[in-house]
Amino acid sequence: MKKRKGIILAGGHGSRLMPMTGALSKQVLPVYDKPMVYYPLSVLMLAGISDILIISSPNHMPLLKKILEDLGDIGVNFEFRIQIEPRGIAEALIIADSYLDGHPSALTLGDNIFFGHGFRGMLRQANSKTMGATVFAYPVHDPSRYGVLELDDKNQIADIAEKPIDFISNLAVTGLYFYDEHAPAMAKKLTPSKRGELEITDLNKAYLKTGTLNYVNFGRGFAWLDAGTPDSLLDAANFVSTVERRQGIKIAAPEEISFENGWISQSLFLTLPNIQMDNNYASYLKKLIR
Ligand code: TTP
Repeated sequence: MKKRKGIILAGGHGSRLMPMTGALSKQVLPVYDKPMVYYPLSVLMLAGISDILIISSPNHMPLLKKILEDLGDIGVNFEFRIQIEPRGIAEALIIADSYLDGHPSALTLGDNIFFGHGFRGMLRQANSKTMGATVFAYPVHDPSRYGVLELDDKNQIADIAEKPIDFISNLAVTGLYFYDEHAPAMAKKLTPSKRGELEITDLNKAYLKTGTLNYVNFGRGFAWLDAGTPDSLLDAANFVSTVERRQGIKIAAPEEISFENGWISQSLFLTLPNIQMDNNYASYLKKLIR
């Protein structure tokens, strides 16, 4: 199998976070002690993916690019492509088509935060699948806000409902999707929804139709947050702060993951820009070596 490539979709209107997102992309806003984009980046890196495409809007790309390039050589090859208008999450696969060049992909939304025990294992397992797609489900108390999995009596996916008014299940589809090499071609066949977007649910349904849509249930011992509203942004920051200070760890430090993945040597690690600072983030990284 060709090596899986990653996509971080980091454009969007950010209208629910206005006026914070007038001049700034949502994905560069801080979530406690690091920019939001570090979180989806870390997810892809945990999956073992080192070729990553960043998709964002024309006005927001420069700062996003700077933030990622400022990480230094963490063993990740970044590329950058523009989405002119936020015409839907599934459009990411079309924009990424020539970048993917027949490789399978993992797409993650720039404002989604994942954290929990056993995450790396779940990611690695999804990464090893050569055929079809994998979505990740999370039990939520308000499923009507999300794409929701309907399961049959064998716990297989029967359907995916987009923002169902009537209760179907509490399993929301999160902003992380693994696809085989057919996703760009399948995305090109989609037609825009009533709201004028290429819906990721429609792409997932196309996989379901061919009988190749898998899911992983994160279950209750796991955290999935999105940081798309002022309240959820604050909740995410508080969550990260609570866990990090209590456990003395960092959630989503890309340098740490790169080092653990064996992508950079100790001597290279010690030259990375974020380790040179006189602050808490740098001391944390330094401690990993001792
Ligand atoms: P959303 O939260 O659905 O949209 P948004 O970021 O535009 O915010 P709002 O609803 O407040 O206007 O998007 C989820 C993520 O996907 C977010 O990180 C932005 C990104 N996105 C794109 O980059 N392009 C798109 O076309 C869409 C729909 C989303």
